[in-house]
Amino acid sequence: MKELTELKVSAIKDGTVIDHIPAKLVFKVVSILTLEKIETQVTIGINLKSQKLGTKGIIKISDKFFKQNEINKIALIAPAAKINIIKGYEVVEKKIVEVPDEIVGIAKCMNPKCITNFESVTTKFKVVDKKKISLKCHFCEKITLKEHIEIL
Ligand code: CTP
Ligand code: ZN
Repeated sequence: MKELTELKVSAIKDGTVIDHIPAKLVFKVVSILTLEKIETQVTIGINLKSQKLGTKGIIKISDKFFKQNEINKIALIAPAAKINIIKGYEVVEKKIVEVPDEIVGIAKCMNPKCITNFESVTTKFKVVDKKKISLKCHFCEKITLKEHIEIL
C-alpha cells in the first residue's frame, strides 16, 4: 500500500475500491451500482491524475463487498476498472471486471420501435460479442453496438 500522504482520497479500512474508472463515467458507475441508496460511507474522487488514463475516477465503498455479477454490470462502460477488496486497511484481493452474458436494465435498446422504448419494460440483452461488446435485445432482437450503447 502507498504511503498515506500519497493518497488523494482517504484509505478505507474495509470495503471495495473501484479504481481506474474513466473520469467522465464515475457517476454512471455510481448509478449502475445504485450507490445513491447505500448507507455506508462512500468516497468519490474524480479527475485524479493517472499515468495510464491521464485522469481517472475512483469510488471507495466502505463495508460493502459486491458479488461478481454486480461488479460485472459496470463492464459495459468501464471494462478497465480494477476492483480492490480491502480488509484491515490492506488490499487482500484484486478483481477485474468481466463482461456478463446478459445485461438487464442498464442499457437502452437502439431500436426506436422497440417496446422497451415506449413502455415501462426493463431492457434485457444477450451479449453476442464480448470482445467488441454488441448486445442483442431480448424483445426486438436488434443489435446495439458498443458505440451506440446508451446507459439508462
Ligand atoms: N486503497 C484504499 N484503502 C486502503 C488500501 C488501498 O483506498 N486501505 C486504494 C488505493 O488508494 C488504490 C487502490 O485501493 O487506489 C489499490 O491499492 P494498491 O493496490 O495499494 O494501489 P496500486 O498499487 O496503485 O494499485 P493498481 O496499480 O493495481 O491499481
Ligand atoms: Zn429492443
